[in-house]
Amino acid sequence: PGEPEENETEKGLRVSDKGFLNTAVLRSEITFIDGDAGVLRYRGYPIEQLAVQSSHLETAYLLIYGSLPSKAQFQVFHDEVMHHSVIHSDAEQFFRSFRYDAHPMAMMTTALAYLGSYYSEANPSLQGQNLFTRGDAASLAIMDKQIYRLIGKATTLAAMAYRVRQGREFVTPPTGLSYTGSFLYQMDHLGQENYAPNPVLEKALDVLFLLHADHELNASATTVLQTGSSLVDPFSAVAAGCASLYGPLHGGANEAVIRMLISIGKPENVPAFIEAVKKREKVLSGFGHRVYKTSDPRSFIVRKTADEVFKITGRDDLLDTAMALHDAAMKDEYFIKRKLAPNVDFWSGLIYRAMGFPNDYFPVLFAVPRVVGWLAHWRQMMLQSGGVKIWRPRQIYVGPGKRDYVPVDERI
Ligand code: ACO
Repeated sequence: PGEPEENETEKGLRVSDKGFLNTAVLRSEITFIDGDAGVLRYRGYPIEQLAVQSSHLETAYLLIYGSLPSKAQFQVFHDEVMHHSVIHSDAEQFFRSFRYDAHPMAMMTTALAYLGSYYSEANPSLQGQNLFTRGDAASLAIMDKQIYRLIGKATTLAAMAYRVRQGREFVTPPTGLSYTGSFLYQMDHLGQENYAPNPVLEKALDVLFLLHADHELNASATTVLQTGSSLVDPFSAVAAGCASLYGPLHGGANEAVIRMLISIGKPENVPAFIEAVKKREKVLSGFGHRVYKTSDPRSFIVRKTADEVFKITGRDDLLDTAMALHDAAMKDEYFIKRKLAPNVDFWSGLIYRAMGFPNDYFPVLFAVPRVVGWLAHWRQMMLQSGGVKIWRPRQIYVGPGKRDYVPVDERI
């Protein structure tokens, strides 16, 4: 009994697309990628121009609302985000309940969901399921407020996840600093008078944040939309995205790159590592991308930023190994044939390491800016014409056909 039977309950056309290689689930106006040409644009603006001329928060406005802000619009956005960076003091107890060695991404994911418990005004289960889909002025204002809260508090939660591991007191978000300046302050401030983050490091982190702000329908943005499509509150949807980002094939890759480089050690060990990758015994972390079939355009900007940072922090001892690995892979037939080139994570981990962040904190430095992209996609979906359709893919059933229940004593 129970011979496998395909689609026994339903007939008709069904497309199987493992990993969604060819499935477009929506129309989007946010981010454009040409993976063959190595092009990335946010709302039409080339990433190279934004990285040099814009800032993370200005780009956040652009991604979420569709156009670059006027001075006045930016001021309001900036002030609201910074104003909403403060967290209820109860969150301190919440963070203290984690183990001293908890992974920061586990804390971050949990904390984002926890945040939702404070804002019943933003919960469609309580306020009516059309809370965010109505698109009227009141609904848009509630939506804006959650956007300010999530972007503002992301840095504070991330800094708390950092400090709780070090057994340090938490720092209230300061006033008068930039978004990344405030973040660095909350992490590094040890009570010194007139403490200010290093402006080069502050700027470098801002560029990295801007580069990580969105990347169209990556796994985590898709998770936010999948979760958000049930009309759950945005804190829960963003927490789900954060969980997706945690994995080593996505946001965990920058952490994996450093572990890989440490395991390789010296540049002379690179050839043996490359051979192990080709035998599929190892993975070259920070290489390859579902969409880019050439170098990830962000990787060039990150590489340049790394040089700026090393001028302040000193040269990272893993840089030579990274460069040897990069050069060896780029001229090896195995990688050329498969169009494998560095992605944004190949170099970013080296910057974070040089700045003194622990390895397992790197994905958090990806999650904080990516909150922006998640919210841009979430807002677009909530406001799309025709309303939200719950994301419910189909499967191709290949399990047993009908069979009858056998009482436990009669089973062989
Ligand atoms: N090292 C060695 N071989 C690789 C790598 C790699 N990093 N990436 C892909 N390949 C090989 C695959 O084994 C496959 O070979 P085959 O055709 O002989 O079987 C071929 O290249 C195609 O790769 P896929 O796995 O089909 O590509 P996919 O689009 O499914 O995966 C992914 C993309 C997950 C990013 C993959 O390249 C990978 O695992 N990279 C390492 C992890 C990483 O850096 N992730 C960060 C992604 S970017 C980001 O999230 C910001």
